[in-house]
Order: sequence, then structure tokens, then C-alpha cells
Amino acid sequence: MTRYLVTGGAGFIGSNFIRFLMQRYDQTVQITNLDKLTYAGNLENLTDIEQRSNYRFIKGDICDSRLVAQIMPDIDVVVNFAAESHVDRSIGQPDDFIKTDVYGAFVLLEAARKNKIKKFIQISTDEVYGSIINGSFKETDALEPSSPYSASKAGADRLAFSYYVTYKLPVIITRCSNNYGPWQYPEKLIPLFVTNALEDKSLPIYGDGLNVRDWIYVLDHCAAVDFLIEHGLDGQVYNIGAGNELTNLQITDTILKMLNKPQSLKTFVQDRLGHDRRYSVDTAKIRSLGWRPAFAFDQAIASTIVWYQENRAWWTRLKTGEYLAFYKQNYRQDL
Ligand code: NAD
Ligand code: TYD
Repeated sequence: MTRYLVTGGAGFIGSNFIRFLMQRYDQTVQITNLDKLTYAGNLENLTDIEQRSNYRFIKGDICDSRLVAQIMPDIDVVVNFAAESHVDRSIGQPDDFIKTDVYGAFVLLEAARKNKIKKFIQISTDEVYGSIINGSFKETDALEPSSPYSASKAGADRLAFSYYVTYKLPVIITRCSNNYGPWQYPEKLIPLFVTNALEDKSLPIYGDGLNVRDWIYVLDHCAAVDFLIEHGLDGQVYNIGAGNELTNLQITDTILKMLNKPQSLKTFVQDRLGHDRRYSVDTAKIRSLGWRPAFAFDQAIASTIVWYQENRAWWTRLKTGEYLAFYKQNYRQDL
């Protein structure tokens, strides 16, 4: 029996990861999901999991050292997904990014160190490298993050590494590229554009739309993290990506075509401040251990779009504020 602490498990990737673990390992895992339920945390992402006897949800903040100290003695593996995760929000209001992404990671690392945890996975991001016009970043390349989001993630990434060097905490750091799939909050490019198109609303393309991201299906990311828990070496960084580099305009056209919506929905808007032109990671290191992505982009994006078509109630609530009212009433009387 492996006892996992998954932080941020009510968010997009965390909830997919919990479902992945449950499907793969069934009763041989025990999962604690610690999530603050910010605007991005949604217990509806886990309605099929919540009744399972080997799952427990704790509503709380990873910055709360007393709470984290109570949870950690019963844990073997920590997977830290909890973060403020949206670049645009970090430009408008960076405060919570520093608190959660940096200080929160510190609180978890400290508690893990005191409890002799078997594995600590720090979920970092390819954005810590900054932008690259030609070629792909290797794990040994310098970090030049350019948004408050990626800078705070870089802080946690290096802090986690320091806990390996200084205290021999068995830390692994992952730097994954842009994810897409079901249950992604509709503020990120793909779910925003799919849901806007379904509502016949315009698709706001920043700048010239030629920025490039390397897209990976969320379950490939989950499988890579699980793979590294078993096969990764302590103290190492691993890039994760699927090699699907596409411009934002290519993504937009794919969505419009699949939904049979007109080109006129495309709207070019003011560029994001400090907008990174291209992200690209070299994934030779994790591939040399034997991992490779299993999902082809064309099929996985198609099934993702169908998921948003079929789960209109889920995202409509998030886009209309009804969900906000629901969760104030049920979980956040303090709001
Ligand atoms: P998300 O915004 O969908 O989910 C974040 C979750 O963390 C939410 O459930 C939120 O309630 C929770 N959370 C926020 N602050 C918290 C706190 N102080 N204490 C406890 N819980 C808190 O994000 P996501 O897209 O699922 O990303 C998850 C992780 O993966 C992040 O660390 C992100 O940096 C990283 N990542 C994301 C991508 C991507 O494409 N989405 C790519 C690479 C890495
Ligand atoms: P996003 O999903 O926010 O991920 P990240 O910035 O972390 O890569 O954005 C992906 C790309 O899409 C990025 O180049 C910004 C662009 N974008 C738009 O053009 N319009 C939008 O409304 C959003 C949210 C993003």
C-alpha cells in the first residue's frame, strides 16, 4: 500500500492524476487530496472518486504548516501540483503566486524532510526556462523565467533541488509542457476557445497568434509522473513533453474546424505583457528511461473537444458565476 499526498488534487491535472492512480492501482493506493479550493479547485472534478474508501479530501492550504505537519506522518509519496497556475492572473496580481507556489512548496518540503518521505515530486513547468526561438531546452540549461508565474515556479523548482542536495530528501522535479484535456479550467487557451466557440463567442487571440506551445494530453503527463515515481532518480530534473509544437492560430483553426464554426469568431486582441514566443523541451532524458507519450494529438484533441461539448453544465457554471455561488455556500463561507 502506497500512501500519496496529492496537493492541488481538485484542479485540472491533480484531479486527472488522482483518477489515473485509482484506475491503475485500485485498492493498493491510499490518496489524500489537500486542496485549498481556490477559484480553480473544483470538487466536481472528482465526483466519481469521492466515495472511495481509499480516498480522502482535506480542504486546506499548503502554506498552513500546522495542517501539513498533521498530514505528513501518514504519507509515503508527495506530489505537489498545488499552485496558482495562470500566467495572465500572475501579471495582474502576483501575490498568491509567491505565497502558494514558493512558500507553499517550502512548507511541504520542510514537513517531508521531518517525516522521512520516500519520494517528493515537485511539479514544475517548462516555462521556468523562458522562451526559445530555435532548438529545445535540456534539463541542464539555465532558467530564465519571464512571468511572475514562471519565476515563482522556478523558485520552488530550485528550492526542491536544494532539499535533495542539503538534506538528501528524495526529490524529483518535473518540467512539463502545456497540458490539455478534460476538467481544465476555462481560462486557459484550449478550454476557453472551445467553450467560447460552442457559445458562438469570439476567440481572443493575443498578438499575432504565432506563439508556439508544445501540447501534451493530460493523461500522458499523469503517466509520466507515475513513471518517474518508480523509475526516476532522486535529485534529478525531467522534462516532459509530447513534441506537438503548434502555434495558437493552428490550435484555433483546429477548434473552429472541429466544431464547424466560422473564421469570423477569431479576434486579434492586445498581446500579453512579456508574452513568451515559444516553449520547447528536449525529452531525451525521460525517454531514455523508457517513457513515451501514448496519445496522438489529433485524436486526443478531438476527444477533448467532445468532452467539453458533452459536459456543458460543468463549464457553464464556471463561466457564469453560478459555480462561484455554489462553492461559497458549500465550502467558503469566508468569501
Ligand atoms: P489548476 O489551476 O487547474 O489547479 C491548481 C489547484 O491547486 C487547484 O485545485 C487549487 O484550488 C489548488 N491550490 C491553489 N493554491 C493552493 C494552496 N495554497 N493550497 C492548496 N491548494 C491550492 O492548475 P493545473 O493546470 O492543474 O496545474 C497543476 C500544476 O501543474 C501546477 O503546479 C502547474 O504549475 C503545473 N503545470 C501545469 C501545466 C499546464 O499546462 N496546466 C503545465 C506544466 C506544469
Ligand atoms: P495559456 O493557456 O494561458 O498557457 P501558457 O501561457 O501557460 O502557455 O496560453 C497558451 C497560449 O495561448 C499563450 O501563447 C497565450 C495564448 N492565449 C491567447 O492567445 N488568448 C487567450 O485568451 C489565452 C488564455 C491564451
